[in-house]
Amino acid sequence: MATHIQHTVKKLISHYPWTTSPLIVGAPMKVIAGPALAVAISNAGGLGFIGPGASPTDLEPSLQSAASLIASSPSLSKFSSENQMLPIGVGFQTWAGDLDVASRVLEKFRPSAVWLFAPRDGQRELDVWAKRVREVCRGTQVWIQVPSVREAGEAMGSEERPNVLVVQGADAGGHSRSQGAGIVTLLPEVYDAVNQGLEIERQVPLIAAGGIMEQRGAAAVLVLGATGVAMGTRFLAAREATINGGYQRHVVEASDGGQNTVRTQLYNWLRGERNWPAGWDARGLVNESWRDHEKGVEFERNRELYIEAAKRGEEGWGERGRMATYAGTGIGLVREVKGAGEIVAEVRDGIGRVLALSNEL
Ligand SMILES: Cc1cc2nc3c(=O)[nH]c(=O)nc-3n(C[C@H](O)[C@H](O)[C@H](O)COP(=O)(O)O)c2cc1C
Repeated sequence: MATHIQHTVKKLISHYPWTTSPLIVGAPMKVIAGPALAVAISNAGGLGFIGPGASPTDLEPSLQSAASLIASSPSLSKFSSENQMLPIGVGFQTWAGDLDVASRVLEKFRPSAVWLFAPRDGQRELDVWAKRVREVCRGTQVWIQVPSVREAGEAMGSEERPNVLVVQGADAGGHSRSQGAGIVTLLPEVYDAVNQGLEIERQVPLIAAGGIMEQRGAAAVLVLGATGVAMGTRFLAAREATINGGYQRHVVEASDGGQNTVRTQLYNWLRGERNWPAGWDARGLVNESWRDHEKGVEFERNRELYIEAAKRGEEGWGERGRMATYAGTGIGLVREVKGAGEIVAEVRDGIGRVLALSNEL
């Protein structure tokens, strides 16, 4: 595995030269991971992804704004002007995306990476997206986030095999497959399925996601075969996140995520999203909407209460609030709001200390 790590670290650094190893990635959280968050993460030597907007047409203004922020960062603007490429990534939920709109905007702005997730039609759909991305943006790498060993194998066996595989464990905040495994078992099994026995040049870098909040979790997944880590929930508490103050406060105040988050369709439905592909749901914080659902309150009544809560601004959120507060089981380890750059540096620098400790065992 040591050779795999050395090789994949080199591969990633050569494509993302502004980054520092171990790679810290900001996951493309819908709406919340906007240009300010993505650029702040890249500016600290990580790789920030912009998430899907409320509508596919939000991508263009979002990338325009990212390009302006990048222009005012000395290290990032150097990469961007030398390579005619933005030092950030863009994420799509392909089931809800618009490939024509996306490819037009990608061609214009050329992000360094495109992250694909949640197809309605499995690997076939991901192949169509990957092929188009590669046609319109030569040099942009394709990342695919998978929640299972089967889907990891399908991605790596396909004609449009991704450059990077993000392995998403069941602790993840937001959407994933309803049925899943924790990252501690999922990641090594994916590693064996996709990399074992393959010549080194064909081995794919694995980025671990789901439940990683700080240096201890990050160090653990590197030992399991990851070349980097992706965090979503931790960046909900970043100053640059596009997030309601009540949402952010709830994430910081909550703890014991196994008990105080649930994986459910309820929050999708309350938001009016009834179209998610079969077999997917989302993890969010327990609040009054969930408690009423559990008590048997009818969905229509629950939705009325949700709509009223949405009008109350920050007060609609929190333990006693009702809004869909997507977050992972790691919430108890997210204790304060910080700058995204500070989070990247803290986790990355902390990994070395944790791994040095393990040498004492
Ligand atoms: C609020 C929120 C929104 C998310 N939206 C997306 C999304 O639009 N696309 C995507 O690929 N992943 C999305 N994710 C999942 C992340 O890609 C990632 O798997 C997850 O955040 C990792 O687990 P963690 O939250 O424990 O760090 C979202 C996660 C959160 C918390």
